[in-house]
Amino acid sequence: MRRPLIAGNWKMNLGRSEAIALATKVAAGVRRDDVDVAVYPPAIWVTDAADHVVGSNIIVGAQNCSPHERGAYTGEISAWQIAEVASSVLIGHSERRHKLGETDNVVRSKIDAALAAGITPVFCVGETPNVRNRTGEYVPYVMEQVRSSMSERSYDEITRMVVAYEPVWAIGTGVAATPADAQEMTAAIRLAIDGIAPGAGERVRILYGGSVTPANAAELLAQPDVDGALVGGASLNAADFLAIVEAAPRRI
Ligand code: 13P
Repeated sequence: MRRPLIAGNWKMNLGRSEAIALATKVAAGVRRDDVDVAVYPPAIWVTDAADHVVGSNIIVGAQNCSPHERGAYTGEISAWQIAEVASSVLIGHSERRHKLGETDNVVRSKIDAALAAGITPVFCVGETPNVRNRTGEYVPYVMEQVRSSMSERSYDEITRMVVAYEPVWAIGTGVAATPADAQEMTAAIRLAIDGIAPGAGERVRILYGGSVTPANAAELLAQPDVDGALVGGASLNAADFLAIVEAAPRRI
């Protein structure tokens, strides 16, 4: 049985004391021991957040890593550097793909770096509104995104990854995918993963992200192939984020 994972992507929000306060409240407020909870603060506060969740089971991660290991890459942070203070990293978020020009190739190299460093890559995929409007194309489009970064990897590597389906049209818009839409795509992603490494599809957790709130979380998380949520805006408020954690179905 896949353990639900509720993850908060804080994006480029919060000052240092706000980040510490939020991490502290989340760590103190989780009531479920059958759900994994993760937070992804801005890189500069990752260590602070990690220091303030010690003693809890909260997973702390970074929002991005370099595909390179070390060297002359001003401003970049490598996966092994993240591994010294945190255990996970978001890779290929749509804001990085579309606002910062990150390509499938770069995304793939970053996953390589995260796996080599021993941290969990949360690999983000999702279609733009344009692709969504082309009936019959959006499912194959996302399946191809999955294949481009997950193919030619071992079963062991694939099962160390988490995938997050975040349709671009649902991110920060207040218009979440319907539970049926989220189920359709997460099931297709699982099929694509299974096609790469037979048996891995059942094991990999696939999250849904895009305008998840306490009001819509239970219905989205009840879908059989939705194993959790990647939450943006609502993760900046401890009460809202904790309510989403509570909304995870009791599966184990
Ligand atoms: P919102 O929850 O604000 O729509 O953001 C989703 C997201 O991008 C999480 O990574």
